[in-house]
Amino acid sequence: MNVLVINGPNLNLLGRRDPAIYGSETLDEIMTDLDKFLTEKGCEAEFFQSNHEGAIIDRIHAAIGTADGIIVNAGAYTHYSYAIRDAIEAVGIPTVEVHLSDIHSREPFRAVSVIEPVCIAQVSALGRQSYFVGAEILLAKLQNND
Ligand code: DQA
Repeated sequence: MNVLVINGPNLNLLGRRDPAIYGSETLDEIMTDLDKFLTEKGCEAEFFQSNHEGAIIDRIHAAIGTADGIIVNAGAYTHYSYAIRDAIEAVGIPTVEVHLSDIHSREPFRAVSVIEPVCIAQVSALGRQSYFVGAEILLAKLQNND
């Protein structure tokens, strides 16, 4: 299984960005552990972070024929990027949406995810664990192929 992990805008600042909300770990630290986790599950993982909507869309397109599944934290694009939503839908690759914070108990604009309808699951509020729970859900889906 090949899994693509995408992190969107401002997630490169994890560790210094609002630690009370996002924790004190860096993105690299979390992704290093996620890589180990996915490798232990027999997967090959690729990691991509960008602050640019078009770059994220291009990376989703490039996943056609190479990735079996996608884990995405689209950051603030989650709440309004119909273009990222359409890209996920267009490639047809099973995708799990993850968030560190509880997007449902913060500002009202964060409670809306425009990508949720095209993802197989949304995992939020678990801190770094959201990525790992998201990975479990994705792998279960890919292994059952249902
Ligand atoms: C986030 C939640 C978003 O609302 C926010 O814009 C982010 C991070 C999260 O992981 O909790 O950048 O996706």
